[in-house]
Amino acid sequence: MADWRQVLHLEPPQGWLNDPNGLCFFHGLYHVFFQYAPDSTDGRTPKGWGHWQSPDLLHWTFTGSTLLPDTPWDCSGAYSGCAVPCGDVLRLYYTGNVKHPGPHDYTHTGRDSNTLLAETPDGIRTGPKRRLMANADYPADCSLHVRDPKVWREAQAWYLLLGARSLQDAGRALLYRSRDGLAWTLARVLEPRPAFGYMWECPDGFRLDGRRWLSVCPQGLPHGETENQNRYQSGYFGLDGDWETGTLTAFAEWDKGFDFYAPQTLRTPDGRTLLIGWMGMPDADYRNPTAALGWQHCLTLPRELTAGPGGLCQRPARELDALAEGAPLDLPAGSTHTLPLPFRLRMTAPGDFALTLADGVQFERSGGLLALRFRDEALGGGRTIRRARCGGPLTLDLVADRSSLEFYADGGATVFSTRFYPADPRISLSVQGADAAVQTLRPMHFVLS
Ligand code: FRU
Repeated sequence: MADWRQVLHLEPPQGWLNDPNGLCFFHGLYHVFFQYAPDSTDGRTPKGWGHWQSPDLLHWTFTGSTLLPDTPWDCSGAYSGCAVPCGDVLRLYYTGNVKHPGPHDYTHTGRDSNTLLAETPDGIRTGPKRRLMANADYPADCSLHVRDPKVWREAQAWYLLLGARSLQDAGRALLYRSRDGLAWTLARVLEPRPAFGYMWECPDGFRLDGRRWLSVCPQGLPHGETENQNRYQSGYFGLDGDWETGTLTAFAEWDKGFDFYAPQTLRTPDGRTLLIGWMGMPDADYRNPTAALGWQHCLTLPRELTAGPGGLCQRPARELDALAEGAPLDLPAGSTHTLPLPFRLRMTAPGDFALTLADGVQFERSGGLLALRFRDEALGGGRTIRRARCGGPLTLDLVADRSSLEFYADGGATVFSTRFYPADPRISLSVQGADAAVQTLRPMHFVLS
């Protein structure tokens, strides 16, 4: 019997989930908000913010909807945004989306993109909503697509980033500065020339390893054999210099798999930077059969970021190590086993290798290309193949949940994430060309309050 309810990943109890929002640690708890439409599994009803909280990233409580699309400023959706601790409250900055009825294209007419603020003492109850900016406050050469505020404090200043599409169809991030986090002045427009996609969603600015980084989700990049293989992309630029004057370096994708978008970072109390993404892809043509069961989509594991020689590396947050159960089981090259999900597999492959799961999904290397390939249409819900370049000995850390796989290859320099839908929660595992070791994992603890 299929059992696709995740046991290591945050899902909506029912309905639809997309982007993670408002990631933070506040008053002793991690808060993970997300784009949530409880009444539909297809994401077509107006979204609000759902809320999970946890003291340790392992025990999670779902508290319901924190923000609803219930004012004239956000009636078509309380869209993505962030949370910033400020004294005794959390400030939630987000986009109020309004679509006016009529013959509109919703890019040049018919849409309001309001930058809104609501305060909450606990991530659950919120005070009145305030409008901080409207379309008339954004640069005149922006289309009506301006959204997804990410706010942080640095030195004496507050900064706010918004993702946008210009009237010339170029993706850009608007950087604003403020003294109080309420009144904002445009500091700069970050926009590569020539244009890098027609729209940027969900910008995030963070500091790591003495450097500033800008994460964005560009839409409209050309697709290649190993680059930009998804409908929309998600990746980061380094910034040489500071926010207001620094120059953007080359773009690197966060994840080479089928299902990854709209990630956001947060700082842990001990100074680590974690990244959480939506394990999904907007407007993709693959299927997620949980929709027929009443819910769709999940978030990725929280991933620790570190700076490596070629860019940023990701690994599952170390808190997850506590879920390992029993001694690791050796899977020598050439062997096949059947194992219950969830599990974690580690492997070092000197050369070409192939790892086959559930008789239909393969992670392999040959001819300098790493590939994640579905050989079974039902198992992948229409997902086919994703590739990345890779040379030298390869390390792999794979976390397999009931309906997802996250492959952290090459010390986390190359990650592939995908949903998969095995018919049975015990799956076969066979490995060629390398020895692997596998450990079963205990489920996380999820409570609906
Ligand atoms: C990204 C996105 C955001 C928007 C939100 C709406 O997936 O399109 O730009 O705020 O989803 O749910």
